[in-house]
Amino acid sequence: MSILVCKGNDAFFEALPSALLPQEPEGIIRVLMLGDVIGRPGRKIVKSLLPQLKHRAKINIATVNGENLAGGFGITQKIFNELTAPATGVDIISMGNHWCDKPEVHAIRKASNRIVLPQNLKNLEGVELIPEFEIPGSRRTLCVVNLMGIFAMKHEYNDPFAFLEKARPVLEAKVQGGQSIVVVDVHAEASSEKQAIAWFMDGVAAGLIGTHTHTPTSDERVTRKGTAFLTDVGMTGPYESVIGMTLDGSMPRYFTPKQKKPQEVSEKDVWLCGFLLEISEKSGLTRAAHRIQYREDAEEWTLRTVTAQRPS
Ligand SMILES: [Fe+2]
Ligand SMILES: [Fe+2]
Repeated sequence: MSILVCKGNDAFFEALPSALLPQEPEGIIRVLMLGDVIGRPGRKIVKSLLPQLKHRAKINIATVNGENLAGGFGITQKIFNELTAPATGVDIISMGNHWCDKPEVHAIRKASNRIVLPQNLKNLEGVELIPEFEIPGSRRTLCVVNLMGIFAMKHEYNDPFAFLEKARPVLEAKVQGGQSIVVVDVHAEASSEKQAIAWFMDGVAAGLIGTHTHTPTSDERVTRKGTAFLTDVGMTGPYESVIGMTLDGSMPRYFTPKQKKPQEVSEKDVWLCGFLLEISEKSGLTRAAHRIQYREDAEEWTLRTVTAQRPS
């Protein structure tokens, strides 16, 4: 593990290339995955930093979890267009339990495959198909798996493990055949569920992030088989909050008598949190991964790098 800490964008982007793998000899594909982007402050920091980050780190393709983009609840067409515009640079938006808080999601999904809904949603036609995207600069495609966990969720979902038992052999053949790279966004409350899914996909998925808790964990790793995982990548949004929402709106919910005040997205102490995978074009699996955080108030970037564990 190595850590790069820099004050300000200039220092970070200058130091960044030294923390990345060389392109040669096997070809490196860089995939950036951001967790739940929260409301306007989350969108703003993505728009201000992603284009430069993509350019300077030579990132081939970027995903975000978009279930909280519209005021914390769901996604609108306007926001989808804004984020996926080339000037912003989001390539794919995965979702979570707030996927249908705004009904526009159905029209967005009809018009574009760049929004990926959890494949274990119940009773939604075609949702179980794992989409495959071209990766600029690579011969391989990117298969994006998005799954809901089932522990402590308000709604019911199909069993994510049963889904993967069927999908895994197909994905494995695509990775081993040189056709695809697989990444997974597990949207779940329980670390145990996310870790179990990561181990089940070990050696097939190049990378897996957890989302939904809005709180980053510090357990990033690359397994012996080349699967990078981080139990929760954390939200890209305001951290002076309770999981993104203002203290004024949130705190009265916890004390007696309990008050349900309107929930509003906080604007204070915004961070960008992501997981950057460096994937071998040859194997379709990960050689190095970086947990990236930027804290706006401190203007501080942190990049924590882990490389593949030695094969046992
Ligand atoms: Fe979320
Ligand atoms: Fe969620």
